[in-house]
Amino acid sequence: MSNAPERKKGDPETTGHSWDGIEEFNNPLPRWWVWVFYACIVWAIGYSVAYPAWPGVKSATAGLLGWSTRANVQKEIDAATEANSAINARLVSAELTEISEDPELNGYAVSAGSAVFKTWCAQCHGSGAAGAKGYPNLLDDDWLWGGDIEAIHTTITHGIRNEEDEDARYSEMPAFGRDELLAEDEIDQVVNFVMSLSGTPQDASLVEAGAVVFEDNCAACHMEDGTGDRTQGAPNLTDAIWLYGGDFATLKETVVNARYGVMPNWSARLTEAEIRSAALYVHQLGGGE
Ligand code: HEC
Ligand code: HEC
Repeated sequence: MSNAPERKKGDPETTGHSWDGIEEFNNPLPRWWVWVFYACIVWAIGYSVAYPAWPGVKSATAGLLGWSTRANVQKEIDAATEANSAINARLVSAELTEISEDPELNGYAVSAGSAVFKTWCAQCHGSGAAGAKGYPNLLDDDWLWGGDIEAIHTTITHGIRNEEDEDARYSEMPAFGRDELLAEDEIDQVVNFVMSLSGTPQDASLVEAGAVVFEDNCAACHMEDGTGDRTQGAPNLTDAIWLYGGDFATLKETVVNARYGVMPNWSARLTEAEIRSAALYVHQLGGGE
């Protein structure tokens, strides 16, 4: 190899390969590196035997140590449940109306209730409980079904107009337009009468006729003076607090098609302690009676 470069003293061995005079040095890996590499392999094998490692179809291999994050979380949950079991038992056995007089129990219930609310109720009633169209505001003192602690507790336990709980709160406003119970002009009249009840600007010429329609068709649920009937969940129509909306178009839509607000029965999902906590939390939000 005449074109091979001149070798200097101290140059490593070559592998004997040579391309156009460029030779390949035979540089062994440093010892420490090789040992760390082997140690990693041994450690990886040990790890995958001891801990969950290899994915299977439904779950990974369990590992000899039986370690699992899920079990750890469950352990923490069990510990928290255990720690709260005494106070939960007190919460469940106490007289509902008397809990607010026991500051320790009440404080526990309200903060637990706030957590329940954020998890289970906020998606419909809003994280601040101010509600949305069709989902009542729970901060004010305008109640559809009742605002004392027992009424709130019943509402949450059984829910409203659901099919799972036969004790669910139930009532059904007729669809006056869709089912042709009232003619279009009668609906326009009664809607203007409803607007007059809360002082909303309305077509005054229709109000008198609307009052008659109201008395014949609506007073049975909303009462003659329009203040509503909690035993039927019929809202107060005089307070300008609207579940669905108080403008002419929305009111007409309500009277034509009716609404049918549904809330699940929480007894199917939550413990009695959680339901009581949620009820106490809602009750102390500002509108509790
Ligand atoms: C899927 C939506 C939804 C969820 C989730 C929900 N609610 Fe409701 N809630 C409603 C609707 C709709 C109404 C009103 C029904 C009606 O028109 O009477 C209502 C009514 C209520 C009322 C009665 C208010 C009144 O004026 O009488 C209370 C109290 C209440 N909810 C509490 C809760 C609590 C506490 C939770 C969580 C544990 C919860 N809700 C979760 C939909 C929901
Ligand atoms: C069988 C009882 C019943 C009768 C009769 C009835 N309603 Fe209702 N009404 C209700 C209930 C219950 C609600 C609550 C909404 C729901 O169904 O979820 C309601 C809601 C309303 C609302 C919505 C209020 C809001 O805050 O958005 C209006 C407006 C209303 N009714 C007007 C009328 C008028 C006008 C009539 C007569 C033509 C009438 N209702 C007859 C039970 C009744």
